Amino acid sequence: MAYPTSTVTEYWDRYASGVNAESDLEAAFGWTQWDGRGPGCELLGDPGSALELGCGRRVEVAALARAGIKAEGVDVSPVQVEQSRERWRPLGASFHQGDVIAFLEAAEQRWDAIYSVWGAVWFSDPRVLLPLVRERLAPGGRLVFSHAEPVPGSSGPQGMYGGGFRGRRVWLHQWAATPEEWEELLQAAGFVGPRVWVEPAPQPDHVGTLIGVAHQG
Ligand SMILES: C[S@@+](CC[C@H](N)C(=O)[O-])C[C@H]1O[C@@H](n2cnc3c(N)ncnc32)[C@H](O)[C@@H]1O
Repeated sequence: MAYPTSTVTEYWDRYASGVNAESDLEAAFGWTQWDGRGPGCELLGDPGSALELGCGRRVEVAALARAGIKAEGVDVSPVQVEQSRERWRPLGASFHQGDVIAFLEAAEQRWDAIYSVWGAVWFSDPRVLLPLVRERLAPGGRLVFSHAEPVPGSSGPQGMYGGGFRGRRVWLHQWAATPEEWEELLQAAGFVGPRVWVEPAPQPDHVGTLIGVAHQG
């Protein structure tokens, strides 16, 4: 099925048609772009509840639900949310559709862990998102996130045309920051003991994974 791209939401619906939905539940939990490489779910601590920001239709929420954690995901793409619900509801995982900023602003509950695997933390303004995440973390809770390491020389919002150069003006922004800049952003949002690093790729000249961990208090 072809999806038009007139809005950011449609961009992510279309993205869903091009990614592998059958990623392996046994390979979860992972933060890098290679199954079985880098740290796993131990980065989350021992949460009773967890929320993934920009979960798409991958397996991390399902893996946590299967382990007995109250696991939820939020994603802006209705197509991906519907597919995740269908696939993972039997394990007890819950999925919400919406933009993470609006979702967190409206949320009344708190989670022990909030995390993002190459997800919405990468595609939101951290100066807006991080304080909201901290507010929605239970005391002692933690934020963990991952995405590609930044291109040297890039810093702040990196704009993209989601509909291509012949399409409508659909703007997306991906946030680029070095580990040091992320630590400053996390501290400015009130997080304690932030640690952000680049997990190297299997080959030294390939793209590494930036991973961040920070505590609510
Ligand atoms: C690169 S994909 C990664 C998805 C999944 N975590 C994975 O590892 O395959 C980014 C995901 O973030 C979602 N996303 C991007 N911006 C978002 C926002 N502002 N609010 C909620 N979800 C968002 C997209 O719909 C997409 O599913």
